[in-house]
Amino acid sequence: QKRIGILTSGGDCAGLNAALRAVTHRAIRGYGWRVFGIRDGSLGLMNRPLDYVEFDLGIASGEMLRMGGTILGTINKGDPFAYPMPDGTTRDRSQEFVDGFRELGLDALIVIGGDGSMRILNKLCKQGGVPMVGIPKTIDNDVAHTDYAIGYVTALTVASEAMDRLAPTAASHHRVMLLEVMGRDVGHIAMAAGIAGGADVILIPEIPYSLEGVAGRLAETQAEGRNHALVVVAEGCKTETGHNVTHVQADGEARYGGIGQYLAARLAKMVQAETRVTVLGHVQRGGQPGPRDRMIASAFGVHAVDLIAQGKLDRMVAWQHGSVVDVPLNEVAGVTRGVDPYGTIAHTARGLGIYIGEMRV
Ligand code: F6P
Repeated sequence: QKRIGILTSGGDCAGLNAALRAVTHRAIRGYGWRVFGIRDGSLGLMNRPLDYVEFDLGIASGEMLRMGGTILGTINKGDPFAYPMPDGTTRDRSQEFVDGFRELGLDALIVIGGDGSMRILNKLCKQGGVPMVGIPKTIDNDVAHTDYAIGYVTALTVASEAMDRLAPTAASHHRVMLLEVMGRDVGHIAMAAGIAGGADVILIPEIPYSLEGVAGRLAETQAEGRNHALVVVAEGCKTETGHNVTHVQADGEARYGGIGQYLAARLAKMVQAETRVTVLGHVQRGGQPGPRDRMIASAFGVHAVDLIAQGKLDRMVAWQHGSVVDVPLNEVAGVTRGVDPYGTIAHTARGLGIYIGEMRV
């Protein structure tokens, strides 16, 4: 009877609990194994006493499908190779993690994480000989070799609903509305929400833009007889001259956010219109997962357990062309999948007359 561990790592998103549930069902029903949920990402294996909970079919009820967040908890700054200490220094705690895996008598570990977590845990598992299978999750949808990561579609739905709410108030007040969405260094949420929400301008980190280009498109909407306009901007966009717009949080860390305000101030002057900014923030991560994320998470969970059963380790489950497949973790770790400036989505946006910046060719 195998004992498998599972943990959620990095920023949360909708659908994590659905993945935990699927892993538990497949492992217990399909193979008669035991499943141990590790609390707070890698911390649960690094801390003593070990911090974990054994999952049974009772815990993994249908309710888990519907719940946002992660019942295991997660941490963002938990790199075991450089664990942040209260005095501002970092400590290598990787051996404690590997020892924890052994103390719990685990045969394999399933890690639900984004590209950063995959990279760190892949290194950990390689160095410590911990057999691992990865499940991609992140609202940013930037994990390589998978069309979907858990959480993206729900976040996109939230962003698209925000567009539906902004459009009528923009029209009522003859305003240019800017919606700043998450995505870290990529623009998947921005692109899809902008197309789905009828944006006039979509700005993403992958494609350079000019303020004149943006203002030109907004002027066109006025000339076309529209009294309002919608702009979606991904939080990771820089200024038109390539400068970072970040703000420093209470913990001293620089964070994305602020590009919406920056653009609104400049565009108001250029197009002689009132501008308003909505920063969507963490509402994109919280809340109930939509049906597609529940389905993707369930499929990923089942496949991850099957991989362990087949002895196919150090791989990540992935969604490609409508099927669940698996790819080597090595090929995923450290690679960021951005929006293809020449791909279908970008082509669609241009075809609709949306200004998405200017590629230098
Ligand atoms: O990577 C997911 C994400 O939500 C990004 O889109 C965003 O920039 C970041 O995490 C926010 O992180 P935090 O939860 O630390 O504020």
